[in-house]
Amino acid sequence: MRMAAGTEDRERGADLAEAAPIIRANGLSVYYGTKQVLSDVTLDFPSNKVTAIIGPSGCGKSTLLRCFNRMNDLIPNFNMTGQILFDGVDLYGPGVDSTEIRYQVGMVFQRPNPFPKSIFDNVAFGPKINGYEGKLDELVEQSLRRAALWEEVKDRLKSSALALSGGQQQRLCIARALAVHPRVILMDEPCSALDPFATLAIEELMRELSEDYSIIIVTHNMQQAARASDYTAFLMGNEERIGELIEFGETRQITTNPEDERTEAYITGRFG
Ligand SMILES: Nc1ncnc2c1ncn2[C@@H]1O[C@H](COP(=O)(O)OP(=O)(O)OP(=O)(O)O)[C@@H](O)[C@H]1O
Ligand SMILES: [Mg+2]
Repeated sequence: MRMAAGTEDRERGADLAEAAPIIRANGLSVYYGTKQVLSDVTLDFPSNKVTAIIGPSGCGKSTLLRCFNRMNDLIPNFNMTGQILFDGVDLYGPGVDSTEIRYQVGMVFQRPNPFPKSIFDNVAFGPKINGYEGKLDELVEQSLRRAALWEEVKDRLKSSALALSGGQQQRLCIARALAVHPRVILMDEPCSALDPFATLAIEELMRELSEDYSIIIVTHNMQQAARASDYTAFLMGNEERIGELIEFGETRQITTNPEDERTEAYITGRFG
């Protein structure tokens, strides 16, 4: 599947090995009840990079993403085997607090989902619950600046978040995730409800944020993966076939010179 023996591949391997992975999936299989939806996924997500997960509808992208912050725990019938390491720690090991994990591994969803509260309160919500003892005003400003939203909202922090545009709401959701100081940000098709302008703003933001955070984004959009990500994982599967990892590598290689013909068929639009 990955890292065949060519020189280029060895170089790629060396590059990947440089930094310890922030998240490592090890022989991960996932079931909903008796239905298996992912089989034996082994994959390292590099620190401080943007990694895209691509693949046809129903192949298990969202399922995989939700394993990384234990969101699937909330789904009845969810079951998994194998292991996920977060910064070397078994994410599903005894004594791991799933609420704490969801702060460290933040999530941004397909549809912006701000709370029906003010802009300020959306960002302050997580830190308040966590008993943040610093200056909340500063933290809110810092998070909004980091999410490239501050200039647009600084004069109306007390107005409702629901009055913002879709793109602004999505950046607010990113600010809300940033306010609790995560290490990883998971994004499940974060731009699919946004116009091209707002989409570019989020892609640019992902790039900037990857200096300080590790970002994993699910996207249907090959151009988006090509523009915004450093690494790409291609999954395949459907209602009949259990989802599996087909190929993982640098986005440049996956999008221009994939090793697996199934990846090639997908990126050239022959299926999916
Ligand atoms: N809560 C659930 N209970 C039972 N089956 C589920 C559940 N969630 C997802 N599935 C099934 O698991 C498989 C993978 O779904 P998932 O949502 O992870 O795919 P996806 O790649 O994100 O698809 P899409 O691109 O359409 O969002 C599908 O067959 C789906 O029907
Ligand atoms: Mg999905």
